[in-house]
Amino acid sequence: MPAPESAAPSRAQLVDLVSGSGTNLQALLDAIAADPAFPAEVVAVGADREGIAGLQRAEAAELSTFVVKVEDFADRADWDAALTEITEVFAPDLVVSAGFMKLLGARFLDRFTVVNTHPALLPAFPGAHAVRDALAYGVTVTGCTVHLVDGGVDTGPVIAQAAVDIRPGDDEDSLHERIKVVERELLVDVVRRISADPAALTVTGRKVTIP
Ligand code: GRF
Repeated sequence: MPAPESAAPSRAQLVDLVSGSGTNLQALLDAIAADPAFPAEVVAVGADREGIAGLQRAEAAELSTFVVKVEDFADRADWDAALTEITEVFAPDLVVSAGFMKLLGARFLDRFTVVNTHPALLPAFPGAHAVRDALAYGVTVTGCTVHLVDGGVDTGPVIAQAAVDIRPGDDEDSLHERIKVVERELLVDVVRRISADPAALTVTGRKVTIP
């Protein structure tokens, strides 16, 4: 008997975490909107602060949003528990940290698979000032990394990377904008591949395999 039309394969449910402009989130939303076969959908967007463009993008897309601010909790463990609890409501198959500028805690990471995008070729230049640090060091090539999140600062196993040349006249803004063009494409590709079969993601030591 043919499957009823309503039995379309379910799409991976994504929760996206943002702290800023949310152009990586927008790239995901655009890719999903452009491709009915995209194997994922964003079901909610979370942030650690109010008043950011990332949340406005989510609202424009009529997505559920939530804000969990560190300063509203006695300590980071309580904040992490609250973030975990509200994220659980959306039962994500994958959490995408795209410009989320807080370290996720043990409870959250025990519960969810999280990918993060970082604007440097890790393990070079981890931390919040990766683009500035790469320029200051004088490297001629930098780039971006999509990686699994562990408890460290940008230390989780690498999933995919792409290189970006540094040009003689680059400053932090011009270089970051050029990295972000490549970064958005890389993130969308990784999310598409993981979402196609979340159970196929394997980690052996530091080696990540995705479909
Ligand atoms: C990205 O370059 C991300 O790697 C870094 O912050 C930027 C976020 O950009 N951590 P956006 O908010 O997605 O526009």
